[in-house]
Amino acid sequence: MAVPVGTGFDPADPAILRDPYPSYAWLLRNDPVHRGANGVWYVTRYDDVRTVLGEPRFGRAGIRDLWATLVGPGPLSEVLRHTIFFQDDPDHARLRALIGPAFTPRLIRTMQARIDENARDLLRPLRARGRMDVVDDFAYPLALATISTLLGMPAKDRDALRAWSVAIAPTLDLLAGPDEIARGQVAMGEFAAYLTELIGDRRAHPGEDLISAMIAATTGRDPITTDALIGTAVALVFAGHDTVTNQIGNSVLALLRHPRQLALLRAEPGRLPAAAEECLRYDSSVQSNSRRIAADLELSGTKLRQGDLVVALAGAANRDPAQFTEPDRFDIGRAEGPPLSFGAGMRFCLGALLARMELKAALRELTGLTGLRLAVADGELVYRRSTMFRGVVSLPISYAAGAP
Ligand code: HEM
Repeated sequence: MAVPVGTGFDPADPAILRDPYPSYAWLLRNDPVHRGANGVWYVTRYDDVRTVLGEPRFGRAGIRDLWATLVGPGPLSEVLRHTIFFQDDPDHARLRALIGPAFTPRLIRTMQARIDENARDLLRPLRARGRMDVVDDFAYPLALATISTLLGMPAKDRDALRAWSVAIAPTLDLLAGPDEIARGQVAMGEFAAYLTELIGDRRAHPGEDLISAMIAATTGRDPITTDALIGTAVALVFAGHDTVTNQIGNSVLALLRHPRQLALLRAEPGRLPAAAEECLRYDSSVQSNSRRIAADLELSGTKLRQGDLVVALAGAANRDPAQFTEPDRFDIGRAEGPPLSFGAGMRFCLGALLARMELKAALRELTGLTGLRLAVADGELVYRRSTMFRGVVSLPISYAAGAP
């Protein structure tokens, strides 16, 4: 399979949603800065992807304007225009300086113990069943518990958080339809009202959570506004839980498809950190990020014009043979890196440490199950309909039922 001559790469093509890697290999070999469907540029080489993702010349404000036109007026654009994802410098740098320091090593260390405990608690009742859906039964609850604990949201509110997330997530993709947008607007209105109350409470009664930490870190010098806090909390919920859920699913699937690597990890648990990195490289839950160019520039000899849209395909860069030997081989012993799954430079993922902790906790628990195997035929797995995020809708596995 390759990119059909004349039509250009289209990440929304169902065959590419299912398996983009043969097309990435074609692009890497034949047309690394490729003009694809709708005149969008697709960038695949490791060095070019790192440049596009990490440098201010490739902006996000233009993407915010495109997206705001797609969803129209209402709570979605009112809230999301304040998020860090849609800012260029100097606003991006200012917001990053406000949010970044709140991710203190102390807070993250506290999270480590809670994540490990949550993963163990989630698995206990599932052990006895001998069967589960990794996505719904394990990965999603783990990621949701982590992000809501981090933000200091009470456990009783998780169902509401999940319902809002499910309604809002499809509107973040350029494939969103009018019904999805209408549902997303309602959900965002409710979510923002909930957050306004939560933030008011944290201002009055600070706790050991990220919202309290952001308020404390900015009190006195450049106080963070409630709008910026709401935008940030929403950004963190979205940046930090679908991504992790999908990454756990993709990683378990990669191990199930490579039983010798799974056996090696089970035999030598010390390989867990390297295995997690290889899972992130081999099948990242974030495949791409888009930018709009504010002024003409040249990328690896190709001229790009002001206003052009550029999609940096980290999923392809992670398979660039110039960076990774035999890139299509899944090898938990690999010591090359880093993958570009968490982005690069000025926008490098603020939650990377936390995401790695969650992924390792999930893999530790799940690979410990005896007789672990896929409970449906591989061909029956369905991928989410998203050009940016990659993950299976559900991942049924079976294993020897054990004591809870
Ligand atoms: C496997 C899980 C995750 C993946 C693959 C991932 C990936 C990414 C990527 C690629 C970016 C850069 C976006 C761009 O360049 O446009 C990013 C940014 C970001 N991520 Fe993550 N992420 C993950 C988990 C998390 C978690 C758990 C959190 C928070 C708790 C988080 C918070 C953020 C934030 C705040 C940014 C914006 C940074 C900025 O613009 O300066 N992410 N992430």
